[in-house]
Amino acid sequence: MPLKLLVLASGRGSNVDRVARSIKEGKLDCEIAAVVTNVEDAGVIEIAAKHELPCYVVPSRSLKRRQHEEQLLAFLDEKGLTRATIDFVLLAGYMRILTGHFLAAFKEESASGAYFRVVNIHPSLLPSFTGATAYADAFAAGVAVSGVTVHLVDEEVDHGPILAQAPFFRKEGDDFESFACRGLDLEHILLPAVLSRLAELGPNFELSSLPFDMGGLSG
Ligand code: GRF
Repeated sequence: MPLKLLVLASGRGSNVDRVARSIKEGKLDCEIAAVVTNVEDAGVIEIAAKHELPCYVVPSRSLKRRQHEEQLLAFLDEKGLTRATIDFVLLAGYMRILTGHFLAAFKEESASGAYFRVVNIHPSLLPSFTGATAYADAFAAGVAVSGVTVHLVDEEVDHGPILAQAPFFRKEGDDFESFACRGLDLEHILLPAVLSRLAELGPNFELSSLPFDMGGLSG
C-alpha cells in the first residue's frame, strides 16, 4: 500500500514537484492525497495542477494562528483528510507555525514514544539556523558546511525527531544564489529518499530507528 501524504505548502512548490515526479516515475511508493495551501496565489497551485493533484486553498491571511488551524482542521475533516486516511502530513515550504492544537490531530503513540505524523523539510542542519531564512542566515554566517534536514514536527519551531540530514559545502566563489541553489538541489534528493524510507517501513514506524542512514548523501 502506498504511503498516503497530505501536503501543506505556501510557496513555489519545487519540493512537491519533485516528490510528485518521483511518484509518477515509479521511484517512490507514495500517494499525494491532496495539496493544501494557505496562500491564494502560491506557485504550488500550478504544480499541483500539472500533476493532476487535488489542491485546495484555506487562506490564512489576517487570521490568528488558532483560527486558521481550526478552519484547516474543519476543512480536512470535511474532505476526509484525517489521521484515519493519511499516513503523514508533509510540510513542503509551509510558512505557518503549527501549534499542538493542529498537531494533536496527527498524534501517534508508538512503542518508542509519542510523536506527530507530520514531516517537515528545513534548509539547514538543525538545530543550527532555524526560521524562515535559513539559507541566508547560514550564508551570512560564513559556514563552510550547511545542509538540509527532514524531521518530524513537534510543538517547537523547526524542531522534533530528525529523520535524516545531508550536508552541502560552500564552494570558493559562491554567492548566496549558488549556495542556496546547491541546498535546494539537495532538498530535492533528500526528501524523496526519506519518504521512500518511510514508505518501506510502512505506517507503523518506530522512533527508535532514527535517524536514517542516508549512505553519505551530500550536495
Ligand atoms: C524549501 O527551501 C524548504 O526547505 C523550506 O521552504 C522552501 C520551499 O521551497 N521549508 P519549495 O516551495 O518547495 O520550492
